[in-house]
Amino acid sequence: MATVTFSNNGESEEVENGADLKEVTKDAGWPIAYGCEDGMCGTCVIEVEEGQENLSAPTENEEQTLSIMGLEAGKTRLSCQCKVNGNCQIKSV
Ligand code: FES
Repeated sequence: MATVTFSNNGESEEVENGADLKEVTKDAGWPIAYGCEDGMCGTCVIEVEEGQENLSAPTENEEQTLSIMGLEAGKTRLSCQCKVNGNCQIKSV
């Protein structure tokens, strides 16, 4: 199990390891906007305040999209591309 915390409102969700972060945020009703859900549009950009190492590695689409946005995968991620492998704290930007 892992805990995902949404720092915008301080809420947390307990999830199974490997959970899809997009589904976690949608199920929790956290206000992260989604568009393509394929790492291409950049709509779902988030800041990972803690536990970057507990999210799956960035996908190729994600790295390309973040690069176009002038961002680097790491502290900044695309929520639709992340799997949760441990505790993390995220923030909508
Ligand atoms: S919804 Fe388009 S990149 Fe995540």
